[in-house]
Amino acid sequence: MNNQADSLRLIVRQMKNSIQAQINGTHKGTRVITISSGKGGVGKSNLCINLALALTEFKQSVILLDADLGLANIDVILGIAPSYNLSHVINDEKQISEVMMEGPNGMYLIPGGSGMQELANLKDWQLENFLAKLSKMEGEADYLLIDTGAGLSQTVLSFALAADELIVVTTPEPTAITDAYGFIKSLCQQNYRGKMYLVVNRVPTPKEAAVVYNKIQIAVNRFLKHNIEFLGFIVEDPKVRQAVNEQQAFLLAYPQSFAAQNIYMIAAKLSDQEYQLDQQRGIKGFFNKLAQYFR
Ligand SMILES: Nc1ncnc2c1ncn2[C@@H]1O[C@H](COP(=O)(O)OP(=O)(O)O)[C@@H](O)[C@H]1O
Ligand SMILES: [Mg+2]
Repeated sequence: MNNQADSLRLIVRQMKNSIQAQINGTHKGTRVITISSGKGGVGKSNLCINLALALTEFKQSVILLDADLGLANIDVILGIAPSYNLSHVINDEKQISEVMMEGPNGMYLIPGGSGMQELANLKDWQLENFLAKLSKMEGEADYLLIDTGAGLSQTVLSFALAADELIVVTTPEPTAITDAYGFIKSLCQQNYRGKMYLVVNRVPTPKEAAVVYNKIQIAVNRFLKHNIEFLGFIVEDPKVRQAVNEQQAFLLAYPQSFAAQNIYMIAAKLSDQEYQLDQQRGIKGFFNKLAQYFR
């Protein structure tokens, strides 16, 4: 695991890289990353929002899709109230730009709402129409982060299967670890071939995160023949709950908190990952694939 100095160097290098990319005007296309877990309440939404914000501080543009059908709550955590969601785009009532809401640091939020389920029932021409609308978004963002629900429902699995990269979140609780493994197993059984990362949340110490990662990684390698990379950890930090209660992102409300520092390291490591552009499907590719899985 990286020590503190390595992580700080990584953060600085990442900031330089992204500023250089901006100067050069190079855009690598949108990385579509799903954030999921086996067990609920492990910190997916908080990771998603705060990671998005940290990436914007690295001068990356980020769109966040709230795709938790049952318990959508990114808007609650950010204290904003969406009027429209993807359902309005699907039903041709709104353009995608009218549904996207600007959040802190210039990031954008798309509330999925009931639109996600409607994808399953679209006729081919309706899907084409929807995908054409989404194309306008393509290339505008460096990242599309997708906050999903927890568990083994086919809906959640479909999001993970359709994305290029997946962040699995767990806590050190045995039930969370078992459920994380169960989730990864279901994905592998459906031939998931994308990249997989693990974030261990609510750890008492960094060492505990390494222990949890090793357990999962050994089982995933051995029994599922897949690789999962360690992306980082977030310590148990009372500032997280405090920020949630204040309807603010902890990265902005408490930038000096331990949890915020951990998020910066996760963001730096994520931006540092090599990923193959030719394997990428982008935003349009993601939704196209998602619709096929839903059908
Ligand atoms: N690192 C942390 N330290 C302390 N509490 C946390 C931490 N991460 C999450 N929590 C608590 O867990 C709750 C659920 O987090 P949330 O991100 O909504 O989980 P999920 O999206 O997986 O359901 C938060 O409201 C917060 O109170
Ligand atoms: Mg959530």
